[in-house]
Parts: sequence; C-alpha cells; structure tokens
Amino acid sequence: MAVSGAKPAGAADETSAAQAVQRMFDSIAPRYDLLNHLLSANIDRLWWNRTARRFRPILARPDAAILDICCGTGDMTMALLKQRPRGARPVLAADFARGMLSRGARKFGQRKPGEACAIALEADALHLPLRSASLDLIVTAFGFRNLSNYEAGLREFQRVLKPGGQLGILDFSEPGGLLGKAYAVYFRRVLPRIGRLICGKDGPYNYLPTSVDSFPPPAEMLALMRSVGYQECAWQPYTFGIAGLYTAKRPE
Ligand SMILES: C[S@@+](CC[C@H](N)C(=O)[O-])C[C@H]1O[C@@H](n2cnc3c(N)ncnc32)[C@H](O)[C@@H]1O
Repeated sequence: MAVSGAKPAGAADETSAAQAVQRMFDSIAPRYDLLNHLLSANIDRLWWNRTARRFRPILARPDAAILDICCGTGDMTMALLKQRPRGARPVLAADFARGMLSRGARKFGQRKPGEACAIALEADALHLPLRSASLDLIVTAFGFRNLSNYEAGLREFQRVLKPGGQLGILDFSEPGGLLGKAYAVYFRRVLPRIGRLICGKDGPYNYLPTSVDSFPPPAEMLALMRSVGYQECAWQPYTFGIAGLYTAKRPE
C-alpha cells in the first residue's frame, strides 16, 4: 500500500506529521465548530447522528465500553450519548489536541444529572493508554484521515477492541461523476478561501483537500482493513459519497 498516512506540508516524517496536525488543530480550535457547521451547511450533524444510529445495539447496552477517538470538540461523542441509556457507563472521548478536547469537555460538562456522560482523555490514537481487548466499540469522525500512519491506527484500534468489538470510521470521500466535479471546485477552491477568511490562517483549510487526496479511496481502505485482520469490512456512502462510514469487526 503506497500511502502510509497524513503528511501536512513540510512534515518530513511521521513524528513531525503528527506534531503538525496537533498544532494545526490547536490553532483552529476556537473557530472549529463555527467553520465546520458553516462549510458543511450543518450536514455534519446528520452524518454524526447517522453514524451513532448505526451502532445503536451496542450503544443501548449500559455496560458497553465505548471510545470516540479523535473526538475534537466532541460533536460525534454528543451524538453517541443520545443513544446511551440513562446511567450508562461513560463514553471515553479522546484527542491529542488539548485546545479541541477542552472545548469538547465543556460540552460534556453540560449534561444533566443522570444522563449518559463522557470523559475527556488527552491521548494519541496511535498509542492509546487503554488495556488490550477492553472496548466494545471505537468510533472516529473525520479524525482517522489525519493519522500519520493509517495501518498503525487500525492495528492500535484492533489491540484495544475486544474480540467481536466493532469499529466505525466516518470520513470524507470524493464523489464521482458530475456532482464530484462540482463538489471538487467547492472543496478545493471555495472552502479553503472561506476557511482562511474566518480562521485568519492559510494552512489548515489548504490541508483539508490535500488530506482527502492522500486518504485511500474506499476499495483501498477496505483492503487495508482486511489485511490488518478486521472482518465484515464495509463502506456506506453518505450524501452522494461526500462522506462515508467504514465499519468492521475484530474477529471473535
Ligand atoms: C477534523 S477533527 C474531527 C473532530 C471531531 N471528531 C468531529 O467530527 O468534528 C480531527 C481531530 O483528530 C485529532 N487527531 C488527529 N490525529 C490524532 C491522533 N494521532 N491522536 C489523537 N487525536 C488526533 C485532531 O486533534 C482533531 O481534533
């Protein structure tokens, strides 16, 4: 497989790539939610909720151990919490960019007493501070694409999943056909400009289309998941394939 992981401009190796990603998200954290909703016309909410509904049977189990990795400002976690029963075991929400995570932690802190809650954890997806075979479900939304080594990420997720545990990776994709061409103009030309205007920075919103370019297309990503040992690997396109959900299971 040619692609190993995200490579922000100027990053020479995996360590510097991860550091650049971390710095970039810390720098855009104050504007992240605003930009996200604006640039996706709030469709991101539908994607998070649809992803959470896909895992309803696990989320409905009060004792299920669940991780939202690369949780950022916590919106995927909040969608997962909607599917959790009152008093259920807290969802772990982890990210390595403190600026992003602290905003998520504020949202989790607004849960009412008795409602399912989340615990914010500062952690690197490639080196999770969690016991092997301890989780029933790992979900990640728009984070996996930013890992400096995709295969290492899949292996680390597999390590911490219980046998039979499930994985969901929600991320961008590139739709084909005419719509794909129109979307490419928006994604590559319009979006970086709006991002730059609101954020006051050049890098992060130029990085977004580049990172989607270097992310393997569905057939390759599924092959990578299978080669790492996952079973029942599938990809479900969302909104004409602008985004999509990869699902897989650690073998029993
Ligand atoms: C585009 S944001 C997505 C945030 C959130 N999941 C959402 O859907 O809005 C990507 C997040 O992945 C995090 N991230 C990237 N690489 C990571 C790693 N190796 N370990 C932990 N977090 C990482 C970034 O810090 C950032 O908060």
